[in-house]
Amino acid sequence: IKVLSVTSECAPLVKTGGLADVAGALPLALAPLGVEMRTLLPGYPAVMGAVARGKVVLEDADLFGGPAKVLAAEAAGIDLLVLDAPHLFARPGGPYADAGGRDWPDNPERFAALSWIGAEIAGGSMAGWRPDILHGHDWQAGFAPWYLRDRHPGAGVGTVMTIHNIAFQGKAGVDRLPGLRLRPEGMTQDGFEFWGDISALKAGLVAADKITTVSPTYAGELLTPDFGMGMDGLLRARSGVLSGILNGVDLAAWTPPYKTPAGKARHKAKLRGEMGLPDSDGPLCVVVSRLTHQKGLDLLIDALPRLIDRGGQLALLGAGEKGLEEAFLRAAGHSHVAVRLGYDAALARLLIEGGDAILVPSRFEPCGLTQMYGLRFGTLPLVAYTGGLVDTVIDATPAGLRAGAATGVQFHPVTADALARALDRLCDLYAKPDLWLSLQKNAMRHPVGWDQSAADYLALYQSLDRQD
Ligand code: ADP
Ligand code: GLC
Repeated sequence: IKVLSVTSECAPLVKTGGLADVAGALPLALAPLGVEMRTLLPGYPAVMGAVARGKVVLEDADLFGGPAKVLAAEAAGIDLLVLDAPHLFARPGGPYADAGGRDWPDNPERFAALSWIGAEIAGGSMAGWRPDILHGHDWQAGFAPWYLRDRHPGAGVGTVMTIHNIAFQGKAGVDRLPGLRLRPEGMTQDGFEFWGDISALKAGLVAADKITTVSPTYAGELLTPDFGMGMDGLLRARSGVLSGILNGVDLAAWTPPYKTPAGKARHKAKLRGEMGLPDSDGPLCVVVSRLTHQKGLDLLIDALPRLIDRGGQLALLGAGEKGLEEAFLRAAGHSHVAVRLGYDAALARLLIEGGDAILVPSRFEPCGLTQMYGLRFGTLPLVAYTGGLVDTVIDATPAGLRAGAATGVQFHPVTADALARALDRLCDLYAKPDLWLSLQKNAMRHPVGWDQSAADYLALYQSLDRQD
């Protein structure tokens, strides 16, 4: 079965968050099941550098204001189709924003162009290859199923949209209709209209044959006003085609440098050295995260004194909202708190290797990957009871402990008080070395790979493959 994956990020080439990890891991996880996945990715400078000798497989003289080519190349074991459109993607900075963090004003058009090319390839415009399934990720690919349905209605290509984060909806003012190559007829409640704006995400959710999100619990939460961010009505109406397929971890890319929890000691010492933390009696807690409201880290600022009082420590790596960055820098005035602002893949790895526990107090979390990395590395996750954090961590309740199944700590409601109590609980567990060790062993044994989820994606694709 042939699948075209349309994504704005793909590890290891370009990454701002978990979407990249997942887009990069999916083709590798699906290949053994006979899925031939090709990944359409924008030709940002970092991506162009990796595909210098690509073969031109599609040309477009006027793609949203300039000439464009699609280059086929392999990088990091991924079969890439790179959209080389310099007027849209040859820019410094990140995939969505300039070096100063300001979003590119033409983001709607940039990713509409990506989606347009995805639809064209699915429609049969590329010589020699055409997918059976078009699979788009997040709002950046939202128009792909829409354009396909609009321009190639008889293509016979099944479409899937995956929601990694419904907070990002790809909105644009209605004046952008012609520039986005959208017909005004689509500007309705059962089209891409969303509270008076155009929404690329909604276009995808309306047009796709199937909708998935990245955990079963989040799939249920999305149907509620608390989590649906205005899309819950639409999703309730389409709940028959919505499912949650849990993300996995690329086990080859994320292998701990130790086989048993005892091996962690060396890395913990190295982490303390790197972050300038002294020894302590309590657990060394780590955070690797975007610093946004979603991640609930403002609650950690409030709950931190509890951890410190109990002899615990915090080492945090993150970047994002200025207010949160400043709050953590202030917290780092305490000798048992170390904070590094910025994005640093190597340091992220050291934190996960060396930490005793990893904290993920998110207000909402479609799946979350760092808690799964934590499991695999024997770095016990302390997480909010929400979304994918529910589906991946087994709380050390009396029942979980008796069953010998517990792998971490969960808390609810998502408040600073409940987080403080959870930190207390974590410290209690840490104070019993045998118990802690058994939790670490459970965690390291917990399956976090792609096996089950890859099979679920295959079944989903097969249910849509009209050529079967
Ligand atoms: P989200 O996609 O919402 O940011 P996930 O937990 O799914 O959350 O994925 C986050 C990914 O980004 C993980 O691979 C994590 O290690 C990585 N990451 C987040 N912040 C940083 C950072 N400051 N430096 C390096 N890696 C980071
Ligand atoms: C999003 C979500 C995160 C998820 C990731 C990959 O960024 O916030 O929970 O793990 O996508 O699916």
